[in-house]
Amino acid sequence: MNKIELKNVGKRIAVVSGKGGTGKSTFSTLLALSLAAKGERVGLLDIDVHGPNIPLMLGIEGKNMGVDSNKRLLPVKAEPNLKVVSTSFMLKKDQALIWRGPLKSNLIKQAVEQTDWGSLDFLIVDNPPGTGDETITLTQLIDLNGAIIVGTPQTASVYDVRKAVNMMKTVNVQVLGLVENMSYCICPHCKEKIDLFGKGRIKQLAKEEKVPFLGEIPIDIKLREMADKGGIKLNNLNPKIKKTINDIIKNIGNKSF
Ligand SMILES: Nc1ncnc2c1ncn2[C@@H]1O[C@H](COP(=O)(O)OP(=O)(O)OP(=O)(O)O)[C@@H](O)[C@H]1O
Ligand SMILES: [Mg+2]
Repeated sequence: MNKIELKNVGKRIAVVSGKGGTGKSTFSTLLALSLAAKGERVGLLDIDVHGPNIPLMLGIEGKNMGVDSNKRLLPVKAEPNLKVVSTSFMLKKDQALIWRGPLKSNLIKQAVEQTDWGSLDFLIVDNPPGTGDETITLTQLIDLNGAIIVGTPQTASVYDVRKAVNMMKTVNVQVLGLVENMSYCICPHCKEKIDLFGKGRIKQLAKEEKVPFLGEIPIDIKLREMADKGGIKLNNLNPKIKKTINDIIKNIGNKSF
């Protein structure tokens, strides 16, 4: 598969994990919104063909991409600085996909190749769970600058994060770091910190795999409610999570990649 030249598109970062439901889409959304709020021009590409959730999380479900005079797709604007392309804009709502690998790859290829992103500082790509067709297609289609791997601290997730790290190493994509999501929760009654799924497991894995650890995101009911209602807003975000995302942006901003 020939690589697609993405002119005027700056840093391309894939958000991946070996496992489902670790918070990739939530993290991609938070990262994209936070970068955009800092004045960066951001594209968010959702290549989860089976469960594209980014439009829901940004409150832009059901919107349509435009087409320009050269028949190129125009992303949906979620914020003045944030353009979104999701496979969900290309599929009928509630359409279950029974497509096999090559068809999925074609849909992703179409989303990447036929979109007019304009000029971007960052392109964040939210991947489906696992290390399957979609992520492989992505690495074959685009020169990625790096990957951020999002995991939760349970043993099963830790195993799968390790697989994702190894996959990125195999395809020569720099692992920018690991993020531990759902690290802990604060009891709303007594304010005690509860390590629901274990403690520090992703940080430990980062050490073992010799990749950076980027930070911990707690379980946060408001974040889940905002995502479910359709529309994560930075204004309503737990300040701790806001700080973690901003620290991650600083951290990756200091890297040459
Ligand atoms: N830190 C958090 N606190 C509370 N809820 C969260 C947090 N992170 C994610 N969630 C919720 O967990 C669910 C799964 O998150 P999300 O969809 O981002 O995971 P995912 O890794 O993208 O899943 P998939 O593998 O299916 O693509 C969502 O309902 C989301 O709102
Ligand atoms: Mg997802």
